[in-house]
Amino acid sequence: MAEKGSESEWVVMATGRSPTNIAVIKYWGKRDEDLILPINDSISLTLDPLHLSATTTAAVSPGFSRDRMWLNGKEIPLSGERYQKCLREIRKRANENSDEKKGINIKKEDWESLHVHISSYNNFPTAAGLASSAAGFACLVFTLAKLMNVKEDLGQISSIARQGSGSACRSLFGGFVKWTMGNNADGSDSLAIQLADEAHWTDLVVIIAVVSSKQKETSSTSGMRETVQTSALIKHRAETVVPARMLKMEEAIANRDFASFAKLACSDSNQFHAVCLDTSPPIFYMNDTSHRIINLVEKWNHSEGTPQVAYTFDAGPNAVLISPNRKTAALLMQRLLYQFPPNQETDLTSFVVGDKSILQDAGVRSMKDIGNLEPPTEIKDKVPHQRFTGDVSYFICTRVGSGPKVLTDETLALLDPVTGLPK
Ligand code: DP6
Repeated sequence: MAEKGSESEWVVMATGRSPTNIAVIKYWGKRDEDLILPINDSISLTLDPLHLSATTTAAVSPGFSRDRMWLNGKEIPLSGERYQKCLREIRKRANENSDEKKGINIKKEDWESLHVHISSYNNFPTAAGLASSAAGFACLVFTLAKLMNVKEDLGQISSIARQGSGSACRSLFGGFVKWTMGNNADGSDSLAIQLADEAHWTDLVVIIAVVSSKQKETSSTSGMRETVQTSALIKHRAETVVPARMLKMEEAIANRDFASFAKLACSDSNQFHAVCLDTSPPIFYMNDTSHRIINLVEKWNHSEGTPQVAYTFDAGPNAVLISPNRKTAALLMQRLLYQFPPNQETDLTSFVVGDKSILQDAGVRSMKDIGNLEPPTEIKDKVPHQRFTGDVSYFICTRVGSGPKVLTDETLALLDPVTGLPK
């Protein structure tokens, strides 16, 4: 057993923070449900953890009688197979870890019998339908690996996070990330690779429209299972379309070629939703608001003759809009606020969150300014300039960001250093 310090019971902890990611070439469909092995490669942008991330503290103590986890302050069962796999795979790779200050030495063989407490928190509302499982599993695996002094590289760690949730493997890196599907039956080569870090293409601005929705969506896990079982189109997508798009998307990112990037991202989002429609029974993730946002962007892109903005939608109605620079992002914000103004009782500071400076760029200082916005030129003189008040709950303005980090400041830990229970 571990040597103890002067105190009879000790707690050792690690805290990490991991970002979310948004796929621009989508993962949809598994060839192995157990190991979470995909039927095609995918590419994502990591989003700035300042605005969208999970923070996790993992603690170990001989005083803990079982593994326990809290999510956003509420205890959740750890019995699910996905959690169990991540814990098992990290424990297998655990190494001796010493906390010299506290005089504690945990031996490699101790990890099998020691229990952990985990507390995780998302800095964005889970209910918003943003990819919380990606940030959550990436952070769980990253933080446990730090606690247990795992020596494997981030690529190998990503292949463990993949077994929590496929898209989570891409959250182990910042910037632009590829999940290579791999060939090995044990999944050891199905992992994330960084294509370029966040400093590669800093001009991009990401605006997420959190779309109001009352409908409970089909989970990604069951949705993609049904697609693989029933869609005739998915095979063509996985075998022919995606491999060609991967090459083009990697090139577009390497060259910071926004026009190609935008065309590929929009086409791939649309094809993902097309295979959802081709599923029996069909799956509708987008709603009327999502479709209106697509129309807004398509009309604008068409009128300019070259893409101003890229859109992409995951398994839900929220739009993720990517602009090549702040100037275009401000013009986009004006268009979005014109078409989707907030309800009267909403205040502007909670309607546009994240990097709020986009509002100044868009010339919007008050709710009155939103009311006074002019219709964009491309829809002027066209059929009714309808405004859809309240159809977007709020906007998040963010950017491409960095990968997981260890938080060394103990005040940021989510567990109490003495009791090992949530603070
Ligand atoms: C539409 O990673 O949530 O967001 O592996 O079953 O946990 P599981 O699914 P998940 O699927 C994400 C699908 C997507 C596209 C993407 O992120 O590539």
